[in-house]
Amino acid sequence: LQRGSVVALPTETVYGLAGDAMNDEAVTRIFESKSRPRFDPLIVHLPHRDSLPDVAQVPEEIESILPKFLDRFWPGPLTILLPKQPAISDLITAGLPHVAVRISGHAVFRKVIGQLGRPLAAPSANRFGRISPTSASAVMEELGGEIPLILDGGACREGLESTIIGIAPGPKKPVVTILRPGPVTREDLKQLGKIQAVRREAGSIEAPGQTDSHYAPIKPLKLLADPADFTPEPDKRYALLSYRGDPADGYLSLTDFVETSVLSPGSGKLPEAAVRFFYSLRQLDQSSADEIIAEPLPKRGLGVAIMDRLERAAAPKTKGEGRDGAHQV
Ligand code: TXA
Ligand code: MG
Repeated sequence: LQRGSVVALPTETVYGLAGDAMNDEAVTRIFESKSRPRFDPLIVHLPHRDSLPDVAQVPEEIESILPKFLDRFWPGPLTILLPKQPAISDLITAGLPHVAVRISGHAVFRKVIGQLGRPLAAPSANRFGRISPTSASAVMEELGGEIPLILDGGACREGLESTIIGIAPGPKKPVVTILRPGPVTREDLKQLGKIQAVRREAGSIEAPGQTDSHYAPIKPLKLLADPADFTPEPDKRYALLSYRGDPADGYLSLTDFVETSVLSPGSGKLPEAAVRFFYSLRQLDQSSADEIIAEPLPKRGLGVAIMDRLERAAAPKTKGEGRDGAHQV
């Protein structure tokens, strides 16, 4: 990392592909290794809170409220958009005025960034538009041969990418905009501020990770809201991504699935479903099925973030979009 190379590192959310955020050559390597278009900005990870002013500005209006969020959620799976410092290159922010910052709570990540003592740019360590890796072997599948080193820190504790928010002052409480739902839930954030709905403006990249088709398996994926809507095509093989593997939900017996993966067997615990989500999707993608059928999950708590990823994984890929194509917001 000191020499400007890139290294895949574990974080509590997903594995990241890290490089020195202050070294444009390293940052360029990140984009190239994952075939990521230059208009998709990178998250900057800080070694500690004191280094925040090196990377981002804290506007006066949120000076008093920001520490509440940092005290509560850092280190951890929360990324915050703040105006960038000039030292952060336009490469990292894709020319945008804001930089996305977070501090990972993963022991291995903290040790590496702590010894380096510099901010690290680190997007998820997958090829652009594909499933995020939650284990070292998943990084190997995605980027093996492209990058010189993967540090194996075991499976990721959260299993979904960090929550990304913007913070603005409000009349009574700060106003939080959730730009990407994640492990820090709306319910968690509501305790500190008012939550504002996201506006999705065509052509804007304010809403991060918002490529319509994203987190996509190679096989087509159908999110089936109602099992009654299923009409199997003859000669097509199907795999099932099941929420809790309960026959009463009506999915298990729809057809002769070549493979079934259950996110949280029995009681359907959302944290367990989140941890297993990308792993299960990857497994089904490697099965002999022609298509993956996914059961919906309840849209509350962590279920919101899982459903966000599922909806994107199911979104039709328009021409040139997805793995290597255009980023549409
Ligand atoms: O949990 C995570 O956040 C992981 C770990 C490795 O830290 N990282 C991650 O990075 O998910 P990535 O690049 O896969 O997703 C970050 C999203 C991207 O969709 C990007 O468009 C958005 O955040 N983003 C980053 N910087 C931004 C900025 N300055 N303005 C708007 N969106 C930004
Ligand atoms: Mg990503």
